[in-house]
Amino acid sequence: MKTLTAGAFGKDFTWGIAMAAAQNEGAYTEGGRGLSIWDVFSRKRGVIKGGAKPYTACDFYHRYKEDLLLTKALGFKSFRFSIAWSRVLPDGNGRPNKEGLRYYHQVIDECLRLGLEPYITLYHWDLPHALELEGGWTSYKMMRWFPRFVTLCAEEFGDKVKNWIVLNEPAGFTSLGYMLGRHAPGKTGLDNFFPAVHHTVLAQAEGGRILRALVPNARIGTTFSCSEVIPYSDKPEDLLAAARVDVMLNRLFVEPALGKGYPSEAFKLIERLELYNKAWKYTERMPFSFDYIGLQNYFPVVIRYNPLIPLIQASEVRPVYRRVPRTAMGWEINGTCFGNIIRRFWKYGGVKEIMITEGGAAFKDSVSAGRVPDEARIAYFKEYLEALLKAKKDGVNITGYFVWTLTDNFEWTEGYKARFGLVYVDHQTQLRTIKDSGYWWRDFLSPA
Ligand code: BGC
Repeated sequence: MKTLTAGAFGKDFTWGIAMAAAQNEGAYTEGGRGLSIWDVFSRKRGVIKGGAKPYTACDFYHRYKEDLLLTKALGFKSFRFSIAWSRVLPDGNGRPNKEGLRYYHQVIDECLRLGLEPYITLYHWDLPHALELEGGWTSYKMMRWFPRFVTLCAEEFGDKVKNWIVLNEPAGFTSLGYMLGRHAPGKTGLDNFFPAVHHTVLAQAEGGRILRALVPNARIGTTFSCSEVIPYSDKPEDLLAAARVDVMLNRLFVEPALGKGYPSEAFKLIERLELYNKAWKYTERMPFSFDYIGLQNYFPVVIRYNPLIPLIQASEVRPVYRRVPRTAMGWEINGTCFGNIIRRFWKYGGVKEIMITEGGAAFKDSVSAGRVPDEARIAYFKEYLEALLKAKKDGVNITGYFVWTLTDNFEWTEGYKARFGLVYVDHQTQLRTIKDSGYWWRDFLSPA
């Protein structure tokens, strides 16, 4: 087998690091920042492993220069980060916070100084708490709040930043945060989930339109989580159960963006979304012609029919029972499924370009004699990059790959227990140690 090289992806291929404000910045009360839903949610007992809080995270707020330098030193040319909405609009919708805006100017300027192409994610799950008190994503007022936030960011940063990502993984934050209650803001049930989904679908497209109008030469994308869904057997009930899960994991947000409406034919329940839609007659506002879409795949799923699970009547046959290779999160490692799901999105037809806006894995890392030997992560990247290259050679227009992530950060409900970084962080001292996988990337991107 030929050795994998970065050059094989083409000289214009984008190689980047991705991170998110709530998981990295910390400094949660500094510089006039308002609270986010994650600051508040993390105070509830038992919701986050070890009772961890995102208050300090990786202290990126103060250490951004060091971390951007590390990004550069590891050979990456692009840097994806998110704007904390409550740092620039502490009340979500009121008066902009000059100090917060200045902070992001500094981050952007430092990227540009180092030759790192900035990619801004507008929303990576950290809604201002003030807006959640008024209903958050379940409220139709979101259709005023979100455009205001996007407009502010576009006007403020649009002359320096050309690459934009409207939302990070809408399927993730709506289902975990507004149906299952496992993520902030901890809401449950369909009466929260459906309006949250519909407003998110509208915000996704509206965000794109605002950026198009305000930022000349912008490259506008949005990201989707995705998973190949494999039916447990050929029995019709397993096939139908897998199709319902496919709606929830893969189809619910991309299809309205592509002008296909909600995929209710495979999951009847989704028809209820049409009720919100009819009431507000906004079908024509759901599509937007994104310049690229970001795909983020962390695992495939095997699904079987399960009548005991309400509504979706499906359950996952977890990797641990299938004895397949897996990460410290218990997620299956499978490069072939990664390639398959990318091809599936490409086949939609309306997608112009695909970037892998996150890819990475958590393993149980530790520092020993100043080193973090993480062979498993290196093997993971090799397997996934091989699969990506194959999809690219098969004709999928894949133009970039962003590693998730630079530093071991606040991994939502896993707290600081799950380590995804190329750089190990001691969260007591904030000491950073480049893992072997970080050095592997440096050699991969800048071969001797
Ligand atoms: C999210 C990240 C998260 C990563 C690993 C993605 O779904 O965008 O915020 O840390 O997965 O769980």
